[in-house]
Amino acid sequence: MAPPIGPRALRSEAAVSLTLLLGWVLAQVTRAAGTADILKTYNLTWKSTNFKTILEWEPKPINYVYTVQISTRLGDWKNKCFHTTDTECDLTDEIVKDVNQTYTARVLSYPARNGHIIADSDVEPSRTNSPEFTPYLETNLGQPAIQNFEQVGTKLNVTVQDSPTLVRRNGTFLSLRDVFGKDLIYTLYYWKASSTGKKTAKTNTNEFLIDVDKGENYCFSVQAVIPSRKANQKSLESPVECTNQGKGIFKEFSVIVGVVAFVVITFIVVLVISLYKCRKARARRSGKENSPLNVA
Ligand SMILES: *[C@@H]1O[C@H](CO)[C@@H](O)[C@H](O)[C@H]1NC(C)=O
Ligand SMILES: *[C@@H]1O[C@H](CO)[C@@H](O)[C@H](O)[C@H]1NC(C)=O
Ligand SMILES: *[C@@H]1O[C@H](CO)[C@@H](O)[C@H](O)[C@H]1NC(C)=O
Ligand SMILES: *[C@@H]1O[C@H](CO)[C@@H](O)[C@H](O)[C@H]1NC(C)=O
Repeated sequence: MAPPIGPRALRSEAAVSLTLLLGWVLAQVTRAAGTADILKTYNLTWKSTNFKTILEWEPKPINYVYTVQISTRLGDWKNKCFHTTDTECDLTDEIVKDVNQTYTARVLSYPARNGHIIADSDVEPSRTNSPEFTPYLETNLGQPAIQNFEQVGTKLNVTVQDSPTLVRRNGTFLSLRDVFGKDLIYTLYYWKASSTGKKTAKTNTNEFLIDVDKGENYCFSVQAVIPSRKANQKSLESPVECTNQGKGIFKEFSVIVGVVAFVVITFIVVLVISLYKCRKARARRSGKENSPLNVA
């Protein structure tokens, strides 16, 4: 027959349970505080234009250093920007190896003091994954530039500069056209300088040859477009350029006016100078005639 459990024994058993519980809670809190120490990065963002590609994130580290890793979908993680205190990392070198791959990057944060990782800390780094990034589909198209233009008669010829990229093939850098081929088109927006009605033309080369009215001045800008993309299809528009035709007859007329004006002005200047010299000479002569009188 077991001895009856007295109220005292019950109380002490409860006390033991309570102590255990408190201990467990304390351990959890401490561990939570420990992991909270490992700062998680956030807002990982790809910034990419014409394949120049930088990963940015937040926050600025205090007592942390970051290491960035990048991988294709195969999980072949590679370290970049090792133990950095920056909040950006240039990943261009990696993504240009194959612009059609889909990449993921992640940022690992390690506790550090004065920018140096705390060597014997056995804490796991905290890591945050970036969104996926497929350069061929997602790199922004840079603002294009007009390289050359010429208006002859009723034809306007506009050439778009072919932007260089950091994508290489056989050790040579490719242009934007080389990489995108016929997927890339340019849109030309053009209008008579005297009006605002815009027209557009498209080309899958870097050259436009359009019909215009003879003797009219035109203004225009170009935009790079990849119609097959679902997002990020268009670049900014290039700065506006204008032709300066000057109507032919008016141009000749102004040249004639210019020449005549020059001749007339020269003539007047010469006339004024010679008149002045003449009068001075006469004055001197009359002065000489009068001088004896004056001296006397
Ligand atoms: C991420 O950045 C945006 C602005 O760029 C900001 O509104 C947002 O709060 C940030 N996210 C976090 C978790 O701070
Ligand atoms: C990338 O994909 C596009 C379209 O799928 C293709 O035309 C292009 O040749 C590919 N580029 C490379 C470098 O593989
Ligand atoms: C347009 O201009 C470019 C560059 O000046 C030149 O190479 C090209 O031959 C011109 N095209 C035509 C059709 O005149
Ligand atoms: C360049 O690449 C092409 C295939 O794209 C290859 O046929 C050629 O041999 C390469 N040239 C050199 C110099 O590597």
